[in-house]
Amino acid sequence: MTTQTERSLVLVKPDGFKRGLSGEVLSRIESKGYTLVTLSIFTPDRERLERHYAEHQGKPFYEPLLDFMSSGQVTAVVIEGERCIEGFRALAGATDPSVALPGTIRGDLGRDWGSKVQKNIVHGSDSPQSSAREIDIWFPELV
Ligand code: RTP
Ligand code: MG
Repeated sequence: MTTQTERSLVLVKPDGFKRGLSGEVLSRIESKGYTLVTLSIFTPDRERLERHYAEHQGKPFYEPLLDFMSSGQVTAVVIEGERCIEGFRALAGATDPSVALPGTIRGDLGRDWGSKVQKNIVHGSDSPQSSAREIDIWFPELV
């Protein structure tokens, strides 16, 4: 089987950034063998987050999610490697950190904090289409 090199948009969310876990997340990505293409640290504004999370508009956790994601700095990263989209999703683990398996980023480093939205340390693109869309939102200069 041959596969093409892929890129994925990874975010260390404000909870992970505040806890000083950016390095740990980057280390797991590099240890897995993926390459860091570009990286930026900043507090995302609502306009960018509305575009990024358009699929979740109207859901009960949508407003808490935008409040959470705009609450502080994130480390935004583009990673590269064959099948890195599904590979990083596997590294991240399940959305709910209470059930994410040990060995995953969310399973090892995350927990439920009783908030209206799951604070789960990282985001990773979930398909090649999402990756292209998200990289255009976070790093338009790369496209
Ligand atoms: P992500 O997009 O951040 O990589 O996470 P995901 O695909 O695993 O989860 P998704 O369904 O896309 O949801 C986006 C983010 O919204 C928060 N969320 N909280 N019921 C809840 O409390 C809830 N559901 C979703 C999480 O931060 C999730 O990662
Ligand atoms: Mg998602």
